[in-house]
Amino acid sequence: MFAAATYAERRQRLKADLKTGLVLFLGNREVGMNYTANPYHFRQDSNFLYFFGIDKPDLAAIIDIDNDREILFGDDISMEDIVWTGPMPSMRAWAERCGAGEAMPMRRLAGMVKKARRSGQIVHFTPPYRHDNMLLLKDLLNIPTPKLKASASEALIRAIVAQRSYKSDDEIAQMEDAVDVTGIMHVAAMRGAMEGQTEAALAGMVQGIAVSAGGNLSYPVILSVHGQILHNHHHGNILENGQMVLGDFGAENAMHYAGDITRTFPVGKKFTAKQREIYEIVLAAQVEAVASLKPGITYMSVHLAAARRMAEGLKALGLMQGDLDEAVAQGAHALFFPHGLGHMIGLDVHDMEDLGENYVGYADGQARSPQFGTAYLRLARALEPGFVLTVEPGLYFIPELIDQWRRQKKFEQFINYPALKKYRDFGGIRIEDNVLITPQGHRVLGQPIPKTIAEVEALR
Ligand code: GLY
Ligand code: MN
Ligand code: MN
Repeated sequence: MFAAATYAERRQRLKADLKTGLVLFLGNREVGMNYTANPYHFRQDSNFLYFFGIDKPDLAAIIDIDNDREILFGDDISMEDIVWTGPMPSMRAWAERCGAGEAMPMRRLAGMVKKARRSGQIVHFTPPYRHDNMLLLKDLLNIPTPKLKASASEALIRAIVAQRSYKSDDEIAQMEDAVDVTGIMHVAAMRGAMEGQTEAALAGMVQGIAVSAGGNLSYPVILSVHGQILHNHHHGNILENGQMVLGDFGAENAMHYAGDITRTFPVGKKFTAKQREIYEIVLAAQVEAVASLKPGITYMSVHLAAARRMAEGLKALGLMQGDLDEAVAQGAHALFFPHGLGHMIGLDVHDMEDLGENYVGYADGQARSPQFGTAYLRLARALEPGFVLTVEPGLYFIPELIDQWRRQKKFEQFINYPALKKYRDFGGIRIEDNVLITPQGHRVLGQPIPKTIAEVEALR
């Protein structure tokens, strides 16, 4: 945990922003995997972590702004609990660690919330994403579960985004740590991958590094010789010479800050000539996008510049054609680059996505594009110092999508379908780094992780 004052200051700011009401935070609970006592790995809710810091299941908290009270709810453990799980600080001690004034047993929560509702106080809560918390909220607030997300407090969402979007120096140090562990995972994968091995062997090895460092994965490992499948969690393929491995994985450190890095490398010692050509296009787009980052620039414009840069590369290879400004404006590039350039990152790998992507990534009045590809851009707003974001362009050859567009004669003026035949089995390449926006420009977080062709091949 950070010092108690850090959490107290964050709550103070939240109170100042919201001005009135009662804010209800529900921590996460253990979730049974195949029976209750055999749970999934526990992950605390990130908003709870941000404002109270306690990494422990079965907690809730209220900030009663109108009556100036901060109450942590949870139960002291019994001797029976101690026998099975060991001793734990008391709830009073936890409250002190996060600077909250009061601690109460969980059974008091319902009464406190009901009293607030009876007295006409607004109850602010964030959109729930865990079913047990949905059921609890339904009981506490008498809101049907299907309506809970839409009933979440927009004022609270905006106030949280207004704080969590700007990483403090303490947080940035944690993020550097997460990215450094993530870098070790990637170097181990690039060094260790062997022809004939399963993807699972590599995925398990990198997961072990994240866990050994005291944290865990920040999201399930994406690692595949079929890099064109964007979020491929199947690890059943055997690595074959001539293929590339796309590895998109990261550690979250013990404080739960996330790293999210992608590297693509050849199974053999060297990239093929065809792989090099595409790799160099993605790398140039990535390096140029990172270089352009500074306060004030919109991430939408950085996304579109990267799309344009990759379209130029594809035109030089004869895969795209025609007026590229028009091609990018109409979305033709999305055949090869069907996702966004990046997203905020912090306590969540897609930071604050539980609060709603548009609150996090789009300014008021900035509409989200409905166009295939650009629609997936999670961050489009103007960048500000303290933001940490990912830069992750990629080029993919998705046979099913190519076939569909070719049949539909979609964007024939921009896409050279006959030339694409030779790329059907190419796979995909993505390169991703995590970048802090500074007052002067930007800083790539963590120790550099090999990404030029020479650097990557030197590890094979
Ligand atoms: N790791 C998922 C992503 O890059 O957004
Ligand atoms: Mn990623
Ligand atoms: Mn990412």
